[in-house]
Amino acid sequence: MKRSTLFAAAGSVALAAGVILGAGSMTQASADVGAQLASADRTAVVKERQELMKSIGGNMKTIADFLKESKGTATEAQAAAAKIGELAQEIPAAFETEASLAEMDAVGKNRSKPEIWLNWDGFVEDAETLKAKSAMLVTAFAGGESGAIQTAFGDMGKNGCGGCHQDFRGPKVE
Ligand code: HEC
Repeated sequence: MKRSTLFAAAGSVALAAGVILGAGSMTQASADVGAQLASADRTAVVKERQELMKSIGGNMKTIADFLKESKGTATEAQAAAAKIGELAQEIPAAFETEASLAEMDAVGKNRSKPEIWLNWDGFVEDAETLKAKSAMLVTAFAGGESGAIQTAFGDMGKNGCGGCHQDFRGPKVE
């Protein structure tokens, strides 16, 4: 939706540029406009995928609050674990557009390493690992045994989140 609006806008601006500048200059003018809009589009993509991660982080906190501070209920924590599994499936699509920390000037502050797109299969695999680990945590909650829940939670954090962050998330940006 957003994407098609942008492309439509690029088309009409290019048309106007062609009328004003004459056909000879049009190719260059439309190429420049296209590049600018593409970068605005990619900035939005960066924001969206950071929102996705924040939402995953929020669900993680719900579980941690329950396990460490007895806040909320086991049912809520279990639902948050299931939600992480759902959100994990959205990760590949959210990162499809290449926009890494190597080009922050163009796409905004972000911590996505270029390695994501150099090793796309590995990145997708890490998202699948998170989905599998979250399912194991849901199962542990269903079993109701506190040791098993703690173990599954630790495993999801270390290998589900941490596995991907270690390889594909860069240092903090100020
Ligand atoms: C498949 C890879 C992958 C997995 C799995 C993953 N992350 Fe991330 N996460 C990233 C990347 C890459 C970034 C940096 C995004 C950016 O800045 O563009 C990130 C950023 C974040 C951020 C910072 C968001 C912001 O900008 O404020 C949080 C919080 C986060 N992840 C939490 C989690 C938690 C919690 C899990 C596990 C439940 C998890 N992530 C699993 C790749 C992953």
